[in-house]
Amino acid sequence: MINREEPYLGEGQTPVLSLKALAKHFGLSNISAKAEYLNPTGSYKDRIAAATVQDAVRRGHTGWIGTSSGNGGAAMSAYGSRAGLPGFLCIPLSTPPEKLKSIVPYGTTLLLMDEIGMREMDAIKNLSDEFNLKMSVTAYQYNPEGMTGAETIGNELQDQGSFTHIYVPTGGGGLLVAVARGLDTQSRTRPKMICAQPTGCAPISRYLRNELNAPIIPTCDSMISGLLLPDPPDGQLATKAVQSTDGWGCLVDDKDAYAMQDLLAQMEGIFVEPASALALAAIIQDCHQGLICESDNPLVILTGSGLKDLRRFEQPDTSSTLPASLSDLRYKLEATLHHAQETHSRKRSN
Ligand SMILES: Cc1ncc(COP(=O)(O)O)c(C=O)c1O
Repeated sequence: MINREEPYLGEGQTPVLSLKALAKHFGLSNISAKAEYLNPTGSYKDRIAAATVQDAVRRGHTGWIGTSSGNGGAAMSAYGSRAGLPGFLCIPLSTPPEKLKSIVPYGTTLLLMDEIGMREMDAIKNLSDEFNLKMSVTAYQYNPEGMTGAETIGNELQDQGSFTHIYVPTGGGGLLVAVARGLDTQSRTRPKMICAQPTGCAPISRYLRNELNAPIIPTCDSMISGLLLPDPPDGQLATKAVQSTDGWGCLVDDKDAYAMQDLLAQMEGIFVEPASALALAAIIQDCHQGLICESDNPLVILTGSGLKDLRRFEQPDTSSTLPASLSDLRYKLEATLHHAQETHSRKRSN
């Protein structure tokens, strides 16, 4: 029987994984990772969607309306369907095709828009009031009830280890605020909250570094889906959350996020979307700059699955003649394994 007031789909209680090989590679004793990509629709936004839909049902809303860069839209669509609430989603044209297509099966009404800024958000807020729809943006400014869902990340972390720093991929700022609120603020061993943003769209990190008078920039110049908010709705709240733990803001180039996405898959078998890899790249960058040291235990929130954005990955072998034969297979094995053996014995003799 469906309990429409509790639209549970298995979200939350994600594990913390140890990235030992990757940490060793960069001279750290450990890096921990909260595996939020394991949530039902592949991102931490499921926690927010569950709380949002629960609130919508309790208040008697007839449906939901929101904006999203893809993850929030997929999560709201799933949990909205579960509760029998129809959804309306405004989504930017630049959304990765995998994020967009994965929303289609739920039957959500999609509106592809050129740009979604604060003006559009405010207009959507007015429409939500007019039509008795739950405003389903993943930001405290518009949906504080829903954001309590993400605070469970911080709650869970308290029993999952002792971390010195928490690296959060940051766009609108809500996730960082939620994790900080979910942690025990009374604890003496409070981790520092670190805001990781793309160099081309870093209003909060740059404001934290005193490079701006407000956490706002005119436009974004980055391709990292989910983190492209020049005027982040929770920018001030996120700034305070970082400052109150003596944390700081990081700027990471897109190319470093992509390199880390590959490295994490190849060294640890974990495939995350570029936004998550960007926060991990920030740890390594800070390690090189001496901001964290070998004995620290930084944790990164791996917010979304790599399957959400495959734009960077080409179909393999499209240039060679297809189909391949078994002798091609032998050739590949010999070439690859001989090369690996030679490298291994050269390393041993050095
Ligand atoms: C995968 C991923 N990571 C991080 C974030 C950043 O969250 P926030 O906008 O609350 O800062 C988002 C937001 O959409 C996201 O989709």
